[in-house]
Amino acid sequence: MKAASSLDYRELARRRLPPFLFEYIDGGSYGEVTLRRNVADLEEIALRQRVLNDISALDLSTTLFGARQNLPVALAPIGLAGMNARRGETQAVRAANAAGVPFCLSTVSVCPIAEVAAASSAPFWFQLYMIRDRAFMRDLLAQAREAGCTTLVFTVDMPVPGSRYRDVRSGLSGAPGLRGDLRRWFQGAMHPDWAWDVGIKGKPHQLGNVAPVLGANSGLEDFLGWMRGNFDPSVTWRDLDFIRESWEGPLIIKGILDAEDARAAAQLGADGIVVSNHGGRQLDGVPSTARALPPIADAVGDKLTVLADGGVRSGLDVVRMLALGARGVLLGRAWAYALAGGGEAGVAHMLQLVEAEMRVAMALTGCTRIEDISRDTLVNLPRL
Ligand code: GLV
Repeated sequence: MKAASSLDYRELARRRLPPFLFEYIDGGSYGEVTLRRNVADLEEIALRQRVLNDISALDLSTTLFGARQNLPVALAPIGLAGMNARRGETQAVRAANAAGVPFCLSTVSVCPIAEVAAASSAPFWFQLYMIRDRAFMRDLLAQAREAGCTTLVFTVDMPVPGSRYRDVRSGLSGAPGLRGDLRRWFQGAMHPDWAWDVGIKGKPHQLGNVAPVLGANSGLEDFLGWMRGNFDPSVTWRDLDFIRESWEGPLIIKGILDAEDARAAAQLGADGIVVSNHGGRQLDGVPSTARALPPIADAVGDKLTVLADGGVRSGLDVVRMLALGARGVLLGRAWAYALAGGGEAGVAHMLQLVEAEMRVAMALTGCTRIEDISRDTLVNLPRL
């Protein structure tokens, strides 16, 4: 099967990956209501077709946080992505470089910051959680600075992890020790392409940024345990001063779903926010980001840069998010599927598809520049 649309990469990823990795990307929390809402609400939004505008020259470039980029998208931070293809984050960052869009490295990536920096020809973004051990955080930030990371994405919607039942069923979590290891090993053996590419050639299978504090021989279960045990649930807005003081570059707060929280982020001096429900992976039952975005953009859009993610699977969805008030859009699952289904070439192809879809959407809504996309680009703001 050859991928014709970015969603085809989901099917390719399903075939190629052991279930414990596919379900980790694909799944959400609890009953996955919010995961479904993200996609369904975005789909509901009707674009306003306009004709006979001169659309011979389209410009899809934009400036985010002082840097010009070719498209108003960035690759979202995704934990464990490096397990989807050999040294996966290095492949994804190269695809992002080639497309001229930012790549955001997760704290819980497989490849450590320095390995990604060595693969990248452009500065990338770094994502951080609030971890109990502030010295460890400071050290990670220093590594990110040294690697030339420009922008910090600080995730605030995971003081506790949402329960991902698919991960329990698939064997990623909930089967500790030898039993879990054997189960995952068996799944890998049933997917020989992956087993060779990643299972054998893609070692070490560690969360590269965290491994130094875990010791050399830590397996996946240890990492998940580490996440549960080390994320700081006592964090408040006041603690964010620590981040602001420790990071001089642009600071984006990711995981905002409410206008009051968005105002607090602006007051704190954040440069941006990501309107996000963590891809439906945290509190199930919260609104879709398509629904949460407009009032947030109205509240703070003139004070900081509003980004959004959640349910974005195509260039049309990117245009919809921009029309709802986002200045830029993070692509999450779309690149994880593409990486699993096609490696670096898959991620590059997915970004080309997104660009091509955006071009058609802009041409047929009469928008020649990204700044032209507004609520006027929608037939009406749906009452979601
Ligand atoms: C990590 O951020 C996850 O959603 O699994």
